[in-house]
Amino acid sequence: MSRLSERPDVAEVGKAIPHESAALHVTGQALYTDDLVIRTKDVLHAWPVQAPHAKARIVGMDVEPAYGVPGVVRVLTADDVPGVNDAGVKHDEPLFPDEVRFFGHAVCWVLGETLEAARLGADAVQVDYEPLPSLINVKEAIAAEEFQGAQPTVERGDVAGGLDGAAHVFSGEFEFSGQEHFYLETHCALAHVDEGGQVFVQSSTQHPSETQEIVSHVLGLRSSEVTVQCLRMGGGFGGKEMQPHGFAAIASLGSILTGRPVRLRLNRTQDLTMSGKRHGFHAEWRIGFDDEGMIQALEATLTADGGWSLDLSEPVLGRALCHIDNAYWIPHIRVSGRVARTNKTSQTAFRGFGGPQGMIVIEDILGRCAPQLGIDALELRRRNFYRSVDGVDQTTPYGQPVRHPERIAAVWDQVQESGDVLRRREEIATFNAEHPDVKRALSITPVKFGISFNLTAFNQAGALVHVYKDGSVLINHGGTEMGQGLHTKMLQVAATTLGVPLSKVRLAPTRTDKVPNTSATAASSGADLNGGAVKNACEQIRGRLEQVAANGLGVPAADIRFVDGEARAIGASGPGVAWDEVVRTAYFQRVQLFAAGYYRTEGLHWDSSVMRGSPFKYFAYGAAATEVEVDGFTGAYTTRRVDIVHDVGDSLSPLIDIGQIEGGYVQGAGWLTLEDLRWDESDGPLRGRLATQAASTYKLPSFSEMPPDFRVTLLEHAHEDGVVYGSKAVGEPPLMLAFSVREALREAAAAFGPVGTTVDLASPATPEAVWWALSEARRGHDTDHLVEGKPGAQPDLPDPEAPPRRPESEVEQVLLSEA
Ligand code: MTE
Ligand code: MOS
Repeated sequence: MSRLSERPDVAEVGKAIPHESAALHVTGQALYTDDLVIRTKDVLHAWPVQAPHAKARIVGMDVEPAYGVPGVVRVLTADDVPGVNDAGVKHDEPLFPDEVRFFGHAVCWVLGETLEAARLGADAVQVDYEPLPSLINVKEAIAAEEFQGAQPTVERGDVAGGLDGAAHVFSGEFEFSGQEHFYLETHCALAHVDEGGQVFVQSSTQHPSETQEIVSHVLGLRSSEVTVQCLRMGGGFGGKEMQPHGFAAIASLGSILTGRPVRLRLNRTQDLTMSGKRHGFHAEWRIGFDDEGMIQALEATLTADGGWSLDLSEPVLGRALCHIDNAYWIPHIRVSGRVARTNKTSQTAFRGFGGPQGMIVIEDILGRCAPQLGIDALELRRRNFYRSVDGVDQTTPYGQPVRHPERIAAVWDQVQESGDVLRRREEIATFNAEHPDVKRALSITPVKFGISFNLTAFNQAGALVHVYKDGSVLINHGGTEMGQGLHTKMLQVAATTLGVPLSKVRLAPTRTDKVPNTSATAASSGADLNGGAVKNACEQIRGRLEQVAANGLGVPAADIRFVDGEARAIGASGPGVAWDEVVRTAYFQRVQLFAAGYYRTEGLHWDSSVMRGSPFKYFAYGAAATEVEVDGFTGAYTTRRVDIVHDVGDSLSPLIDIGQIEGGYVQGAGWLTLEDLRWDESDGPLRGRLATQAASTYKLPSFSEMPPDFRVTLLEHAHEDGVVYGSKAVGEPPLMLAFSVREALREAAAAFGPVGTTVDLASPATPEAVWWALSEARRGHDTDHLVEGKPGAQPDLPDPEAPPRRPESEVEQVLLSEA
């Protein structure tokens, strides 16, 4: 067992404790960035001027009328930028654009004494636009061949040969929707400038170091002159990995120009219309199976709808390509990816980071093909799992061995057993036979998700741990808290490593002047990376204190153990020495009581030019069984019961992990079943406008969508060697457990038709989409979109002249045309 993963007998990690801020969250005392505004004197408020075109040249801008509005202090335009006019790392995101690239694009910002003054000032700014032709959806972009960034391919084996030799070959096409983050706290930054011209920005950011870099380059300052602090976020979900930078830069620029603190907080509509979302994708595929249903070969092209700029689209696409296999061994495979450039918000990271978009493709394929192969989808999935062959783990398409492949079958079998799946499926069959207009179904889907940043350099972290003379401990680390419980876990790690009670350890907010050059808190790796760094810092201090205690007790340092706030010599029966006492002695002996910790993940390599390597430290596994009931008259459905078995290694904090699993599942179910982003695709004046720009039209999962019977179990005996205290990351993987609800809806819809009906289900599977699917099932086999044929047969693409398969309802027509 590695030193990093070895857990002492007495440990704070592994205890089921509440989130460190739970009481503050529920009483409203927890401070978020915008709560600092009322504690700050002379704050100016920022409001954007948003363009009313999907694409347009800005031919004139008159800001003078804004200054006529009482309370307007300053209008910020491109001329004010002392450094680089760009909000991104790819230099394709002008902070103040001269060409509008999406409906709602901010072209300048107004600062006012009050938010209302800024809003009225923004209204008064006169902008002349020359509208340009735009591309709104991914198919338009594909037709126009409008792509951006790299076009990678993951490839292994002989795809043509594999398809040629396959007994059954299917092909199809699939387009699925993006997702709005809808974090409770919208984007927010509050900037100050001190007497030396140093900028201090409080920002709701998952990536303070990059926010710092962007603010620096916009202002023409060095990184050492800019400090970014993130107290906590009211949710990030990937939406604050790259998107906060420009907002922080605007606030900082305003602060430099006016000498006053500037606050920029988007209201919900601004956040929805300006900030990036999960990428929707288009996929085309061809797959071959043998007679037993074993996958022989897969060929696919994934096109991500990137929106107007690259942002994180390339790495999101990369992760999609690396997750199209999900839990399945695919001997011959070629998956190509590209990023479409459309006139929409710049789509970005969202929990799973492309993983869900890759995995949905294979899960959709298996769900659609199973009936045609005459194999139960449950059985088809299980047969194709990765495994060890003659003691050698099978490898992913990009060449990484799948370590512990037996855990895929283990979580699957456990959920099947604990969920009583086989018996319930029999009950469901009886129920369905008796109910022509209501159908139930129960599906299981697996998750295998790679943990680490694909980009190897990001897999490092730092921490700063202080022990004060009174024995109290203060920790800082590079990760940010967005509700996921990272800080709780870090407190537990520090207390465990130092051998002190949790109550002795406090945690200070994340800031770039404490721990520099941090990676985004993302890729679910926050606890792995920062936990390694916190542990390392604590070990340095503990090592020094062991020596101090050893001298006092007259034993070798190697015999000292800190347990529960006491130093004891192993085997000794007498009283130990209290932690506080050892610390005080150490101070007087002039022993350093603080340390900087560092951690880098070992054993990773990735070559993005050929898309090969071992980019992941390990894989997280899980399986979910979801039962649904669908109404045949309306397509409305309910989730009746969900069972999950998920692998978090040896949990650092079981309550936190179970919360992450429940929340991830529900958020995934939202993406797959409810949340329906609609953009105006008409040729009218509102082309490109986000039609669903409020909670009234964008349906989020809420308590009423929580499965009434929700059973989450952590896989036991799941120690992960080489990760902090034997744990595994948990943040993103559970989102993908929600594929089970989508597959259950597909099977329930199919149950309205004859046995063996293949159902093509839109994503999101809204009640309307489910109704279309079950209506087709009632009409018999649907084969228009799933063609069996030998390789060489053209995929059966929908006829562009044909009426839409999912006609817009009248209500939506009204919505799209509303002013
Ligand atoms: N949980 C809550 N409550 N809020 C969030 O914003 N973000 C998710 C996940 N869980 C998120 C969350 C995402 S996208 C990631 S990458 C991880 O948390 C990041 O935190 P971690 O690395 O500490 O797991
Ligand atoms: Mo999470 S999408 O990696 O922030």
